[in-house]
Amino acid sequence: MSLVPVITIDGPSASGKGTVAQRVAAALGFHYLDSGALYRLTALAAERRDLRWRDEVDVARLAGELDVEFDGAAILLDGENVTEAIRGESVGIGASIVAALPAVRTALLARQHAFARAPGLVADGRDMGSVVFPDARLKVFLTASAQARAERRCKQLRERGEPADLAAIAADLESRDARDRARAVAPLQQWPDALLLDTTGMGIDEAVDQVCRWWESLLNA
Ligand code: C5P
Repeated sequence: MSLVPVITIDGPSASGKGTVAQRVAAALGFHYLDSGALYRLTALAAERRDLRWRDEVDVARLAGELDVEFDGAAILLDGENVTEAIRGESVGIGASIVAALPAVRTALLARQHAFARAPGLVADGRDMGSVVFPDARLKVFLTASAQARAERRCKQLRERGEPADLAAIAADLESRDARDRARAVAPLQQWPDALLLDTTGMGIDEAVDQVCRWWESLLNA
């Protein structure tokens, strides 16, 4: 087991796991890994180099060579701030396409492991507890109803001044989740050793408190 304590928070798109994971990391003074950002960066970089998202060999090579920097909340690709650019819906769809390619996942593995540094790490994604950090001390599967997730994503987009159609967003989330669940490698699913946190009708504070309580009770066990 790794000496660095790791908390994994996996779950479907727009479940709020990113916000919860960041807040838990801040509360505990731990580092934070947004693994979805790596898949989004790969999709964006591929698009910019005119690669097709399904070209496994080329996209995996690119994923292994990405020039990425996480500078606080800012994410840089080839020195350019792409924090906003990677959050677009089309990059999200591209991310779920490149994420289904086994060689791409392998190419991003070492980069993810490098985030596990003292005093600890909170990692969010789809396979953090199952593949990337199987020895994590606390594993959470964070979800919410499809309706609640679509409404949250809609609100996020509108706050950024982007157009947001609830029905189209719900359909997008559904197809992305279906692809994440059905893929052969590292599919999205709640593993038996993960604690379920359903945040439908639950505020962020409550979700963060629950994860912190689980963590404390582990430390006191
Ligand atoms: O979490 P986020 O929505 O930013 O992730 C974008 C996409 O990256 C997901 O839809 C999923 O296909 C992929 N992903 C993954 N494994 C992870 C994190 C994200 O396959 N650990």
